[in-house]
Amino acid sequence: MRVSVIGCGYLGAVHAGAMAALGHEVVGVDVDAAKIAALSEGRAPFFEPGLPELLAQTSASGRLRFTTELSEIAGCQVHFVCVGTPQKRNEFAADLSFVDTAFEGLLAHVRPGDVVAGKSTVPVGTAERLGDLLAPSGATLVWNPEFLREGFAVQDTLHPDRLVYGLPTDDAGVATSAGSAAKALLDEVYATPLSEGVPLVVTDYATAQLVKVAANSFLATKISFINAMAELCEATGADVTALADAIGHDVRIGRKFLNAGLGFGGGCLPKDIRAFMARAGELGVDQALSFLREVDSINMRRRVRTVDLAREVCAGSIVGRRVAVLGAAFKPDSDDVRDSPALSVAAQMQLQGAHVTVTDPQAIGNAQRAWPDLTFAETALEAAAGADVVLLATEWAEYRALDPEELAQVVRTKAIVDGRNVLDPAAWRRAGWTYRALGRP
Ligand code: UGA
Repeated sequence: MRVSVIGCGYLGAVHAGAMAALGHEVVGVDVDAAKIAALSEGRAPFFEPGLPELLAQTSASGRLRFTTELSEIAGCQVHFVCVGTPQKRNEFAADLSFVDTAFEGLLAHVRPGDVVAGKSTVPVGTAERLGDLLAPSGATLVWNPEFLREGFAVQDTLHPDRLVYGLPTDDAGVATSAGSAAKALLDEVYATPLSEGVPLVVTDYATAQLVKVAANSFLATKISFINAMAELCEATGADVTALADAIGHDVRIGRKFLNAGLGFGGGCLPKDIRAFMARAGELGVDQALSFLREVDSINMRRRVRTVDLAREVCAGSIVGRRVAVLGAAFKPDSDDVRDSPALSVAAQMQLQGAHVTVTDPQAIGNAQRAWPDLTFAETALEAAAGADVVLLATEWAEYRALDPEELAQVVRTKAIVDGRNVLDPAAWRRAGWTYRALGRP
């Protein structure tokens, strides 16, 4: 099938590659000429494990090409809209300008019977409006949210844990005939994952849009729940990692997303819960989501608490102290620094008078653009040279595997703050380190 992918960021670039891997003929479109140039050469414009291999494999097949010309989507039957919906400046609401521009552009090129599949995360109600906008063209809108995780994006796109189609429905809530035809076309696009047994949920626009923000809100709530428990642990001398292990054995709770520490960041969870609250307010049901305010506050408090911990191990002041921050990306296996807890804490400490050196295996370039005033080092050992305190802020495998004896050779003071609860406290203490962590004695 001929498909187009509009917007080639973390979501769209992977989606385009994955669609080509599934055997479709794909054109990816983006306004960013540098990104398109890289993708056209088969290079990934950002760090995502498996993406270079996916691009190499699919580019060689001749089924995948990239362009800045939207008109080249003409002739495709299915168009995936994968543009970003960042948080608006000074507001909780989502900025839909990229989505609106994409749909206005699409209108000139779609034909009757085409399917436009919306993948961007949007406030509920957006699909209804965009569906009306498309209607005169004879194309049909399906809301098809995406659940990929950065760092696992290729695997999550090729083997999703579920597919969701939000179809246009009539007054009785039944899919319209155009909706049913659109479903059949999307079933062809996703024939391989569907044949592998991936569950498919077919629903209406409103539900499909809500599924995405509900899922991210649940994940954010789970993380903030365990971080709230970490605050209790700190007040009582309990250990939040043992607590998480113990409650996580209950299959109704589950251990995943119960890692206490610096909290959640990135381009999705923080802005999605805020946009969800803003939308609930517009719908007159803000009370239903007032708990997300608390989820957000707990999350942001962890950053403040981490700076305080660093201050405590520096005998009450970080002014003039050397701090090594291990990690700049919002999570390991990503170079994404959007709303990164690691960088936010690094910048806070710098603003409060510390000399901060940040390192990261992949995200230094992005971090440097975001915070040019910070100092950057290539490796953990370089960053930690002469440090008064080391902060593990992003749990990259190489930081989890750090040898306390080796690191002790380069620091000024053997003090470590484990912002992600991934080190073995006993091993570090045995090596003479002062070990502090969030929610652990
Ligand atoms: C998230 C969702 O997990 C995806 O399902 C969704 O598709 C995506 O947002 C999106 O909306 O596009 P992602 O932003 O890649 O994916 O990152 P997550 O793996 O969810 O991690 C988010 C943050 O939570 C990271 O900063 C991570 O360090 C933190 N986290 C995660 C914790 O602090 N504790 C945990 O136990 C788990």
